Amino acid sequence: MSSANPPVLQGQRALVTGANSGIGAAVAKALAAAGARVVVNYSSSAERAQSVVQQIAAAGGEALAIRANVSREDEVKAMFAQMIAAWGSIDILVNNAGLQKDAPLVEMTLADWQLVLDVNLTGQFLCSRAAIREFIRRGMAPDLSRAVGKIICMSSVHDVIPWAGHANYAASKGGVSMLMKTMAQELAPRHIRVNAIAPGAIKTPINKAAWETPAAEAELLKLIPYRRVGEPEDIGHAAVWLASDASDYVTGSTLYVDGGMTLYPGFDQGG
Ligand code: BGC
Repeated sequence: MSSANPPVLQGQRALVTGANSGIGAAVAKALAAAGARVVVNYSSSAERAQSVVQQIAAAGGEALAIRANVSREDEVKAMFAQMIAAWGSIDILVNNAGLQKDAPLVEMTLADWQLVLDVNLTGQFLCSRAAIREFIRRGMAPDLSRAVGKIICMSSVHDVIPWAGHANYAASKGGVSMLMKTMAQELAPRHIRVNAIAPGAIKTPINKAAWETPAAEAELLKLIPYRRVGEPEDIGHAAVWLASDASDYVTGSTLYVDGGMTLYPGFDQGG
């Protein structure tokens, strides 16, 4: 009889920002199912965060909801202090919190530009810096992982696909891509791995209008060669792999999980 392998993230401690809904909730549940203890960060709606915590507990995992606006330095500091007080350290950070405030450029307010950059880009900087400081303080824990720490940045296909009417969002994700690569370059000698996941169209509240009616979904599918809209679990699976030692030689990479959306589907005939 062969003995079962332990879950791939057994004993590790993860923090997922914006984990009370959509992709963040699915990533938190997937990491927990792979054996990690997970902080479910949220900035509003404690109820939804608690519901994710309860779903993880019901499946036999362990999770803790912590409120913090990732664009606020003091709140990020307090969140990391609370996590480290509870569980001793952090092994995996998933920078997922993000939002859209769409408008044609000529109508876009400075406030909406700033809000999207603050949460989507500055939030990733603040959380990464806090995690990296703790990775360096703790040092290598060879029983847990071959890396000193792992950071996964949630980007988007719009880190390479321009998106009319969404200049703030596309600029934030382009920024995430270079932040990720620069952190990966800077931190590889310290055995900290930094990668990104670039989701395409995934069924979540952020893009509900694009898939909730059959007519909208049919339009959306024209942009997806694989001809299905993604599910949050598609991103959860990718996050578990990038957080685990199975990807130990991967750093500075962006994994496009997009059903082929970045393959220029408009060129499938002619050109
Ligand atoms: C956006 C979604 C959009 C998808 C594909 C994501 O980054 O948040 O609203 O459906 O990209 O365009």
